[in-house]
Amino acid sequence: MPHQTKYFLAGVMGHPVMHSRSPKLHNYWLALHGIEGHYAPIEVRREALERALRALSSLGYSGVNLTIPLKEEALKIVDRIDPAARQIGAINCVVVAEDGSLDGYNYDAFGFTASILEAEPHWRADAGPVVVLGAGGASRAVLAGLIKAGVHEIRLTNRTQERAIALAQEFGPPVSVHDWADRAELLAGAAMLVNTTSMGMTGQPPLDIALDRLEAQALVADIVYVPLETDLLRRAKLRRNRTVDGLGMLLHQARPAFRHFFGLTPEVTPAVRALIEATLGTT
Ligand code: ATR
Repeated sequence: MPHQTKYFLAGVMGHPVMHSRSPKLHNYWLALHGIEGHYAPIEVRREALERALRALSSLGYSGVNLTIPLKEEALKIVDRIDPAARQIGAINCVVVAEDGSLDGYNYDAFGFTASILEAEPHWRADAGPVVVLGAGGASRAVLAGLIKAGVHEIRLTNRTQERAIALAQEFGPPVSVHDWADRAELLAGAAMLVNTTSMGMTGQPPLDIALDRLEAQALVADIVYVPLETDLLRRAKLRRNRTVDGLGMLLHQARPAFRHFFGLTPEVTPAVRALIEATLGTT
């Protein structure tokens, strides 16, 4: 990199924020590319978010990522909202424009599809129906990513069916809603299964779904990444289905954010993955 005239600053705002892996990831990429800058964890409560975001420009920050519980709050604050963020209903990246105004983005949908393509470079969105379990915030990002990629049929099911119905109404025809009790049957003829529920996460019960209807060539993705190998992925591997773990989504959503903050698009390499994987056992 040529001599910089400016020290680059960015960070992640949240409450709590110290659990975030983003500082480790972005600071690794900064060092790797020889960019003078820093990415900080910034503790911000919901009621202080507007003041904190409006201060970024004066402090010389390029922007920030947002984590729970600030992602939805930011929709009311930023000056412009990217269509993907509007569709997902949350902002995870705020970028300070030249004139100090704020742009809101969400790269979770991008991160999900990029992680699938990294694990399965020949993955095709039109290969067949996709079963999506869960209708929370993570499900919105996964649905947005699948629809943008061109999936024709999404079978959505959630323990609380009203939440799935609301998402189907928002996301339109590719999405059909099914009874949670029928989740195992839904797998018949599916090209892919995605878990967006919190089941299987450390401290939660494992995801309760029989896999025997799943075809051998179907792909199984879990957005849970603690543990990296959930009970769902372990069972899928045992029956020789291909699997994608949840860490890729976390790593890939950071790439476009880094480009906004620091000027280049970094790569998700085995070294980056190992760096973040090493932190997963600790929180
Ligand atoms: P996130 O933003 O991470 O998606 P969320 O909005 O709290 O978090 O959503 C969690 C998802 O996991 C929901 O789909 C939830 O189902 P409900 O809408 O019925 O609550 C699902 N989930 C959590 N615990 C579950 C359980 N024990 N059985 C079935 N689904 C569960």
